[in-house]
Amino acid sequence: MAREDDSESASPPARREPVRAVRGVRDILPDERAIWRVAELAAKRVAHRFGYREIETPVLEHRELIERGVGEDADAASKELYRFEDRGGRQIALRPEATAGVVRAYFDGGLNQGPQPARLYLIGPMFRYDRPQKGRYRQFFQFDVEAIGGASAALDVEVIEVARAWLFEVGLRDLRLEVNTIGDPKCRPAYLDLLRAYYRPLRSQLHKECQERLEVNPLRLLDCKVPQCQPFKEGAPRMIDHLCEECAAAWGLVTKLIDAANIDYQVNPYLVRGLDYYTRTVFEFYPASATGQQDALASGGRYDGLADSLGLPTMPGVGFAGGLDRVTEMMAAEGEEVISEPAAEVIVLPDGDLAAEAAEVARIARSVRSVAVDYEPRSLRAKMRAANKLGARWAVLVNADDSGRRIAQLRDMATGEQLEVRWDDLPERLL
Ligand code: HAM
Repeated sequence: MAREDDSESASPPARREPVRAVRGVRDILPDERAIWRVAELAAKRVAHRFGYREIETPVLEHRELIERGVGEDADAASKELYRFEDRGGRQIALRPEATAGVVRAYFDGGLNQGPQPARLYLIGPMFRYDRPQKGRYRQFFQFDVEAIGGASAALDVEVIEVARAWLFEVGLRDLRLEVNTIGDPKCRPAYLDLLRAYYRPLRSQLHKECQERLEVNPLRLLDCKVPQCQPFKEGAPRMIDHLCEECAAAWGLVTKLIDAANIDYQVNPYLVRGLDYYTRTVFEFYPASATGQQDALASGGRYDGLADSLGLPTMPGVGFAGGLDRVTEMMAAEGEEVISEPAAEVIVLPDGDLAAEAAEVARIARSVRSVAVDYEPRSLRAKMRAANKLGARWAVLVNADDSGRRIAQLRDMATGEQLEVRWDDLPERLL
């Protein structure tokens, strides 16, 4: 296998090695795509049901947008960012998430001038240079939902409902929703001082990364999964007990509306999220059966300071992103029945050198059905076997004698029944 780090050798190998996929990325083959399509269509349906409109933003963004947006210390920007200098010397990043780009597009495209909030969704690939493992890929897909330009905590609950409705719609109903608030720039700094003061005497007992985070980003100590750091969490001060008046009111409304919507949830005071832009509400959906280490199916929160950190006018926003890779894996594991469509409903089988005739028959039949032609130089028997494997409903047999009269044999693949039809009658026969 050709590895990424292969260096050029002096003498070329006798036979060239095939070039494989880049490490940590994967192909989604047609049979698998069927389940993806179910998840994507459900996402679109649910988004539209809640009044969200589709947006597409580029995979390429200025590296600065990502670093300013998600925070230079956040994993998605520091260790995991796919970045490069383009031919014009610009510092470019492959987006690790969609929110910063969608907020940029909201202003660039003048959506801030339209009705507020702008309710937007996007389905597309994201890139993070993480250690590849099951459920964690270097190119992965998100269903991203954003409500930008609305400050009401009711929108926090709305996006939670969108996430939940999507997961329900694809058959994942056994969920655990975790919710927390991480305050805002008014109340968080004082809380972070308390958190630092609590952890400082324990510093030497924390694992290395947490020791480094203690001064710069102490919130992240709360969601550390390393066993040696766990015993100290329980005694740590909780943001929820140190909210300013506005944040407390917002949190009160969020919990009241989640209750009113009859949604089960758990308050997890250690839920802080890995991106720096969050304020107040944060949440994650897990499979109910998930244990500590498992990754979330969908997660998000409010980000009222994000636009500001991008150098844009201050603008509140809230949203989430669902991971399509994980959701489709769960759907498959739960036995979601997805019938993958046959490549074509009709297959035209020329018996001999009759490409032009077969192509014409296909063109006629395509007005009502999906049609493929078997152009391979092989026997009719072999072609029939291949047509069976493809799962076609009909085969149209084209031979030299019949073709002179613009006639073909139409065969029902399930019953084996065969009848003679005029080419021009095919659309009628195939309906
Ligand atoms: P995130 O938690 O970093 O949030 O990612 C959202 C979801 O994307 C995760 O819950 C997970 O399902 C999926 N995901 C993340 N990384 C990977 C990976 N390496 N492989 C497969 N799936 C992955 C965000 O990205 C925020 N932008 C969400 C948001 C939108 N917050 C507000 N608006």
